Parts: sequence; C-alpha cells; structure tokens
Amino acid sequence: MRYILMTLLLFMTCLSVSFAGNRNGDVEARIDSLMSRMTLEEKVGQLNQLDGRRNLPYIEQLLRTGGIGSIMNITDPEEVDRLQKIAVEESPNGIPVIFSRDVVHGFRTMLPIPLGMAATFNEELVYDGARMAASEAYEHGIRWAFAPMIDVSRDARWGRIAESFGEDVLLNSRMGAAVVRGYQTDSPGAPHTVMACAKHFVGYGAVEGGRDYNTTNITERQLREVYLPPFKAVADAGCASVMTAFNDIDGLPASANGFVLDSILRKEWGYDGVTVSDYGAIGELMKHGVARDREEAARLALLAGTDMDMATKIYTGHLPDLIREEIVPESALDSAVRRVLRLKFRAGLFDRPYVGPDLNGGVASSENMALAERVASESVVMLKNDGNVLPLGRAVRKVLVTGPLADAPHDQLGTWTMDSDTSLTVTPLDALISGYADDVEILYEPGLLYSRDKDTSRFGALRSKASEADVIIAFLGEEAILTGEAHSLADISLKGMQSALVELLSSAGKPLVTVIMAGRPVTAVGEISKSDAVLYSFHPGTMGGPALADIIFGKTNPSGKLPVSVPVHAGQSPLYYSQKSTGRPAAKIRSLDDIPRNAYQSVLGHSSYYLDVGVKPLYPFGYGLSYTEFDISEPEPDDTLLSRSDTLRFSVTLTNSGHADGAEVVQVYVRDVHASLTRPVRELKDFRKVFLKKGESRRLQFSLPVSSFSMYDINMKEVVEPGEFIVYVGNSSTSGHSFSINVR
Ligand code: GLC
Repeated sequence: MRYILMTLLLFMTCLSVSFAGNRNGDVEARIDSLMSRMTLEEKVGQLNQLDGRRNLPYIEQLLRTGGIGSIMNITDPEEVDRLQKIAVEESPNGIPVIFSRDVVHGFRTMLPIPLGMAATFNEELVYDGARMAASEAYEHGIRWAFAPMIDVSRDARWGRIAESFGEDVLLNSRMGAAVVRGYQTDSPGAPHTVMACAKHFVGYGAVEGGRDYNTTNITERQLREVYLPPFKAVADAGCASVMTAFNDIDGLPASANGFVLDSILRKEWGYDGVTVSDYGAIGELMKHGVARDREEAARLALLAGTDMDMATKIYTGHLPDLIREEIVPESALDSAVRRVLRLKFRAGLFDRPYVGPDLNGGVASSENMALAERVASESVVMLKNDGNVLPLGRAVRKVLVTGPLADAPHDQLGTWTMDSDTSLTVTPLDALISGYADDVEILYEPGLLYSRDKDTSRFGALRSKASEADVIIAFLGEEAILTGEAHSLADISLKGMQSALVELLSSAGKPLVTVIMAGRPVTAVGEISKSDAVLYSFHPGTMGGPALADIIFGKTNPSGKLPVSVPVHAGQSPLYYSQKSTGRPAAKIRSLDDIPRNAYQSVLGHSSYYLDVGVKPLYPFGYGLSYTEFDISEPEPDDTLLSRSDTLRFSVTLTNSGHADGAEVVQVYVRDVHASLTRPVRELKDFRKVFLKKGESRRLQFSLPVSSFSMYDINMKEVVEPGEFIVYVGNSSTSGHSFSINVR
C-alpha cells in the first residue's frame, strides 16, 4: 500500500511539475539551462525568422546548426514535421522552431475582414471566430499567428484600414483582446491554440496621406491617447508577441525606436513577450536613412528592443561579431533569446513540437461555415432603407441580381486570404438562388465583371432584365486587390463603370437595393442617393452570400454598426468622430452652389469646414439601421458628483418597440468639456450589443471608472482633470441622450 501511495505521489508531483512547465518558475529554469549550453551563433539563431517559401535548402542547413528560430509560411503539416524533426533531432540543443503565418481573419474558412468583424460590435462572436481560425491554422502546423492588427485607422485612403478594427481606440482595444483570447485561450500552448502577435507597433494607421509605408507625425500625446492603448489592452490580455511597424515615429523607425519598444513597452508596461520586426523592416532602416549598413541596422534594432529579425538575415550576419567586439552587450542578446525561448515554451513546443496527434480535422467544417455566416451576418451595416424596401416581401416575384461583386468568390473574401479556398465561397448569387429561387425568380446579369471593368457592352442586356424585374439588387464595391497592404488609393470612389451601372439601374424605375462589399469606406454619395436601400458588408468572407441573402429577405435582422466614418469625399480624410472642436467649429455650412457671385470674402463666415463637401461624414461611426426600432431611455446616473477614483454608474432601459426581433448596440461616449488641453468632442467609453425580442425591454447597467476619462496633460502625466464631463448614451456617435457629471 505504501508503495502505491509513493508512486501516486511521485506521479502527481511529475504531473504538477510538467503542468507547471508552462509556468514561469520551471520555464525560466529550463531557459537558463538551455542558454548555458548554447553558443553565441545558436543564441543569435533563435532571433532569425525566414520565409519558408524560399531558400528551403538553406533553411534546412540552419535547422541542423540551430541557426534559425522561426519559419514563416509553411502550411503543409507533413512539411512542418519534416523540418521540425531536423531541428529537434539534429540541432545541437534540439530547440524546436515555431512556425508562423498571417492568420488575420480566418485560415481556410474566411471570416469577414477585421473591419467587418469590428462592425459586429460583438466581442464574443469575434472571440469565437478567432477560436475557429486558430484551430484551422493549428491543423496545418501553425503555432504563431500574425494578428490581431490593431492599428487605429482614420484614413480610408489607406489600404490597410481593411485589416484594422476601424477608427476607434476602444473598439480596436476590445476586438484585439477578443482575438488574442480566441487565439491563445486561458491555456496558451494547449492543442488548437496559436500564439498571437499584435501589430503593427506602433502608429502605422497614421501614415501621412493614407499612403502605405509613409512617414507619420504623431505627438507623444496622440501615441499615448490613440495608438498605444489597443496594444496595452492586448498586452493585458496576455498577447504573446508584438510586431514592429514599418513607419517611423517622430523620425525614428519603429524597429529601431527604443522609446516605444523599451521605455514604454518594457519599462512602463513590463511586457515580457517577443517583439518581431515586420517583413524586412530591419533592413529598411537603411532605406529610412538611419542605418548606414546592415551592421548598423543590426545594432540599432537589437539595442532598441526588436527581438526577432523577420526575413533579412541581418541578425545572423552581424550580431555575433558585434557581440564579440563588445559593440553590442551579450546581455541584450540574452534578453531577446530568453523571450523567444519563453514564447516557444508558452506555445507548448518543447512538450509537443510536432503537428498532431490532437488534430480534429475540423477545417472548413459545417460548424465553421455556420460560424463564419453568423459573423458575416452581424457584420452587415444597413445604411439606408427608404420606404422599407427591405426586407423583400412576398409581393416580389422577380429579382434582378447584378453588379461585379454579386458572384465574385475571390473578391468577396477580401485581403489576407492566402490559405482560403475560393471554391468554398458562397456568393450572394449562389445564396439567393439556392435559398430563395423557389419563392422568387432570380434574374442575373452582372453588367460589369469586376470592380474596375470599363466594358459596358453588357448594359443592354442589363437594361432589358431591369425592365422585367420587380426589384433590383446591385452588388458593388472593390476587388480584393484594391485593398490591404501597399494598396492605398487617393480616390476612394467606386471604380470602373459602377456609377454608370447604378445610373442605368435607377432609370429603370424599380426599387434598387445596393450592397457594397469593400475593404474600406468608399465614397459613393451618388450611388447611394440613387438607391432605395443600402447594405454595407465590407468584404464578408466565405459565407457572405447567405448572410446577405437572409438579410435581404428578412430571415436575419441586420445589426452591424459602422466601425469607421463613411466620407463624402476622400478629401475629408483623415475623418473620424472623435475629432477636436477647433476654435471655429463648423457653423453655418454653405455649399458651393449657394455662394453668391462676386461675394465679399467674409460673407461665408469663418468656420472649419470644406466649402465643397462640408465637414460631416455621409454616415457616422457607430451608425447602423435595423428592421425594428429601439428606444433608449433617459440615463439614470446613481451620482453626478464624483471623484477621480470613483466609478460612474448609470442605467438605461432598452426597448425593442418595433415589429421584429433584433439587436442594438448601446454606445456610451464621454466629452471632457473643459481641460488644460484640447479634447475630442466625444470618445467611446463603452458599448454593449443586446438582442431583444420585439416588445421586449431590458434594463442595462453601465459602470465606467472615472479614471477611464483620463488624458495626458502638458507634462505627459495621465490625469483626470476636475470639471464637467458630458456623457452621451445612444446608438451612434451622433445620437443619444446626454447628462453631465462633475469630477472634483
Ligand atoms: C507584411 C505585413 C505584416 C505581416 C508580415 C508577414 O509585410 O506588414 O502585417 O504580418 O509582412 O507576412
């Protein structure tokens, strides 16, 4: 009996130690032990990440010598295991490599682009989507995913706005954290989890003119109040790594910027995750003009705090000598190596370096497709529905489906879709035919074959079909290639002959429903004005078709809200709701047409707006219609005189007063009315998506720490200054009840 107890005790101890193997104590000891056995070259090798799509023989050689720490873009599980076996069994210390990939909005089953996921305002759903993406990636040997992208994006000209969660700080923070939790779960390294990598640190969304890779001009205060908070949120959520941005920040490129990488990320936040450069970014320090050569680039980047070198071989080429010549202290190298090894321990690679055996084969499963459809459904924003054209009723017998995005299985997926399978895409045309052709006759004439198409030879056929139809549904927007990295646009209007197509359709005198699938908010004032109803679906992913079809026919009630302001004109960019008042906020706004001839220069007044396009967006952040109506009662605050350490508590009653079940997003904005520095006219401080059956009411309680109303004062100190704050509670950034509180 005693023997059995001893064995049991020993087993339990081993179990706890191995479980604790992912806990700091044991991991740090194991890292110490490993590092004590590693040569200088092997340590530098851990900081070397290469693209597996090229120079594979060279990579295999590095695997044998321990000269590489991570391989990107290999997604064949057998190839992953073949390469991993070399690292584990043939290298001097058997350190596994970590295989990485851009898994930005799905792997095989594509979710809506992140801008669309943001439009759901539903963190739980985004978490579920991230779980699915992680699982599909894990099935292919990926253990490190380069997402979430949480660059606050306020310029629709920037192609990468597609990858972000939009213009708002809180929305990027909460959606980014949801993705991190979905990728890593509470047990990072467990089967079907991947390590997250928040990107791009930091301020990439502020590229001048919306031109990708351009310089930025960001004050430290903007950094701290706008661009850094989402990264702090994901760091607090346990995000395993951060990727440095291509751009410079106040003249210093992010990959060599010790202020953000060391002073803030490490010293202020105590972040212990890995920092990895963006693709080639360390080499680009020479293009930026801050490094004379590769050796200087290596020194600047490592000393600033960039742990891993993506795809340039600069670290392996120069760090050993820089350290032997004592130009770079070995301690800097050791800190970076320790973080990389810790990432691998947290990823479970030392315990389970190979793919499987815990695979579940759940790639592109029916459950995953159903989830992708749910996310797509909640990502659709109804901007307009004049005369309640939608949902289409039983009187509709013939529907014309048209437009370049009606049956575009590739473009519907959007950007970052390398592992997708377009044969799985269900387009709107597919879904309308398969789901509704028994009830209505579906006519189809694309009119244009792709978004840039200038060939109007199909317009004759289109005109004829339009005359037969009861209702016309036009699917417009952008080809995927016009969005994403390196794909900025100066003119964000609809390309090709899409505008002419809408002109033709509107002349048919039939109700016109326009659906826009895009990777950004496009300018479409004319097209929208000619449409009776407008659905904005960004690029909705694999199951965008059924999601849209069910909304059009009323099986689903749209609940999306705009994560970005929709501009009237690109010239308004950057455009966002949380703007400053200025000393001359837009007052009496005239349009070009009502300016008198030979007018004296002062007749138009002197306030901040554009004479030709005004100052407001066509549709504001947070806006979105529903097939039902919701009422939000006057807020009832518990107290309106609070100290900085208090929590503002108030309640509202949300009522579904309409005729359909649906979901509303109750949004809470705050304005600091008078402060020592200029403050935004509104800032989103909380939001909650609530589903109510028709006629149902629900009391909602909100609790906002007054500390969340903070700013950075002239001394760069985070403070909440005393005085009046206005709290707005509504269903967009321009609506709602308000009440004042006073902070003493
Ligand atoms: C790209 C992107 C980055 C991506 C990386 C690896 O250039 O900027 O978002 O994760 O390279 O593909």
